[in-house]
Parts: sequence; C-alpha cells; structure tokens
Amino acid sequence: MDLVERFIAMRRRTRDIFTWIAPEFSEAWDARPIPLRHPLRFYEGHLAAFNANLLHAAGLLPRRPEPALSDLFARGIDPESTTQAGALRIDAWPERAWVGDYVAVVDGLMLDAVRSGERPEILLTCVEHEEMHQETLIYLLHRLDPRYKRPPARYAPPEDAPSPARKLCDVPGRRVTLGCPDSAAFGWDNEFPACTVDVPPFRLEAHKVTNGDFLAFLDAGGYADHRWWSDAGWAALEERPGRHPPFWIPRGESGDDGWLLRGLFGLRPLPLGMPVYVSFHEAEAYARWRGLRLPTEAEFHAAAFHSGPPEAGAVDYIVLESAPVGRDDAPVTAEGIVEPVGNGWEWTASVFAGLPGFRPRPYYPGYSADFFDGTHHVVKGGSPVTARPLLRPSFRNWYRDAYSYAYTTFRCAGDLNESA
Ligand code: AVJ
Ligand code: FE
Repeated sequence: MDLVERFIAMRRRTRDIFTWIAPEFSEAWDARPIPLRHPLRFYEGHLAAFNANLLHAAGLLPRRPEPALSDLFARGIDPESTTQAGALRIDAWPERAWVGDYVAVVDGLMLDAVRSGERPEILLTCVEHEEMHQETLIYLLHRLDPRYKRPPARYAPPEDAPSPARKLCDVPGRRVTLGCPDSAAFGWDNEFPACTVDVPPFRLEAHKVTNGDFLAFLDAGGYADHRWWSDAGWAALEERPGRHPPFWIPRGESGDDGWLLRGLFGLRPLPLGMPVYVSFHEAEAYARWRGLRLPTEAEFHAAAFHSGPPEAGAVDYIVLESAPVGRDDAPVTAEGIVEPVGNGWEWTASVFAGLPGFRPRPYYPGYSADFFDGTHHVVKGGSPVTARPLLRPSFRNWYRDAYSYAYTTFRCAGDLNESA
C-alpha cells in the first residue's frame, strides 16, 4: 500500500472510531473517561494540530493554519496525578464546528504533502502518531458511559473460553537485536540505533495471564499483602478507588458476589479466559506472588521474534476486544509461546530508556525522551486495536507504571531451575 492510500485509510478509521460516540449526546465530547487525560473533544483537534505543527517544524508548511488551535491542541497530558490534571483543565474548548473546519484544512494540507512524496519520515511520523492515538482513543472510549456509545455494526461481544493451565516454556540463550537498522524505511527515535543483546536461557509462560489467573491472586489477598508489591506499587494503590484491576467492577458492594468486566460497549460477567489488563505494578506483584518475575525487553525478543516476526494474533481491528488466550486458532511460536504479538501489550521488566547511542529527532525531540524518567516500563507486542504497521518487532511502546487503563497484560518469566 502506498503512503497516500495508507493515509486515506488511516483517516477513515479515525473518523469511524469517532462515530462510536452517539451523535445525539453532544455532552459526551466533554467527558473525561480517564481523569488524567483531556476530554474526548481534545483528540479531534489534537490529530490535526500534531500534523500541522510537525509539517511546519520540518519546513514543509510555511504558515500554520489557525495558530490558536494548533497551539491549544498541540499536546496531550501525561501528568503524575489527578491534581496535576486539574491544573490543566481548560474550561472553554472551541466549538466542534470550528475544529471540524480546521481538521478539514489540515487534511487537505496533509494530502498535498503526502502526494508530494517529500520527507517521508515526517509524513510517516504523522501517520503512526495517529495510528497510536486510535488505540488511545479506544481505551478512552472504553471507559465512557455505554449510554453515550453506539457500537459499529460489525461489533459482537467476544465469547469466552476456559483459561489454559499455566505452563513455563524453555527459551534457549540467544543473541537478539533491539531497534532497527539505519536503513529501515521508518522508525521512531527510540528504535535507533539497533543494538544486540546476549540473552541467557530462561523460561517464559506459554500464555498471557488471564482474568481467572489474576482472580486467584486477588482472592488470596494479594492486594492486601505488601510483600508482593514494590513500594511505588503499594503507594500507587492509595491513589486508586478499588483494589482490583480497573477493567473489573464488583457485582455487589465488594467482589464477594463476583465480578463484571467493563467491556467496550457494556458490562458482562468477567470472562475468565481473557487476558487481564493491569498496570505494571499489578503485573509485578502477581509475578512475585507466583515466585516468578516479568521478562526483560530483550527476553521478550528472544522468545517472540527468534524466527522473524511471529504470526500476529488478535491485532489490527480483526476483533475490537480481547480474545481468549487459549482459543484454538491463537498463533504459537516453535517453542510454545502463544500469541506474543496481539491480544494485549505485554509489560516487560525494562524501564523505558533510549537504546545506547539514542538521539532525539530535531523535529520532535520529546517523543520518547520526555518519558525517560524511570517511572515508565516498556510494553511489547500489540493489542486487538493496534494498527498493523506498529506490530514490527522493533516498535517500542511504553506506559507509566501506575497506568491501568490501556490494553496492557503480561506473562511471567522464570529462571531455568524454576518450575512454578
Ligand atoms: C507511545 C503510545 C505511549 O499515546 O501516550 C501520542 C504515543 N505520543 N502522542 C501515548 C504518543 C504523543 C504515546 N505512547
Ligand atoms: Fe499525541
């Protein structure tokens, strides 16, 4: 697919996702489904502003349209706490009609730029930025009150399947490459320069941890036992309303009457065979409780990408929500690792940082470097709503350790003598 087609298809997908907000509820655009983030209406303007600002910064656009909007929508927020998010509250967002006109103007400029074929790395930055935001938008919409939402015609809530037995697979020691070669057609700043790492042999669970597996940790009092949690993880629990994964909702006053899942378009009984979506802290605590640990980023590569990019599972909008980890048609590597790519990003034990020799891009210096603060970890793989181009092995995604709203799951690793 050439870049013009990719751009047009990508824009169509964005517009389609916005139609999940029922048109009769204009107030839905002011909702902040995640209190740490701007209201939904920000994202409409942000995608256009990002493109206009980047074309301008790269010298491809002499004057930015509507500088006031290009500034207002320039950046999202990744504040440490809800208090900071409050400080960034904007009371008078521009009307959607004005934003719509702005978006149309920027789309025209983008199409001209894409057709010119100049500076493809700038245009690919715009396209992949928007592809990432499609996923962000969906996990935000996930938390929007279902009465404001209208599922797309093809949507059906996924069927559950039993949770498979936990099993550790042997992964032999091998040399892996993180990042991509300078000759790659495109990569973000954090994918360069490529580096090799020698990974000693280790063990990795065949499957992602499911809601059912995680329920055993919760029922064993895992959330009340500091032993399993880092100090930062324990402190982060204080900032949260419930002692359970935020995608779960207790049926009664507590979880004693069972659990519901907050699905994309409504509640349903907790599907025990689906991957559990949790923060890094929760993943780390669960692994410790099991006597195991999270794999490093290099170990993930060793297990997932040994024989080239593995067949991708639930990715790229084939399904809009997670699929059971033990379903029959899930892809498996030769060593028995099920679906390393797809059905939920996997937390790694690696703090997000630049590869040795990292250099920020002059036209977007903060893309990665703004998050090299020791409180973000790398996630690998991809989710059901990760666009296909982002599934390349070199792609490095990351979230704040306490962030539990994204489609992030995990599997546990162990050392060779471990049999848990
Ligand atoms: C790389 C997915 C963590 O969504 O916060 C979007 C990507 N950066 N706009 C995010 C991003 C600026 C980022 N992630
Ligand atoms: Fe952005």
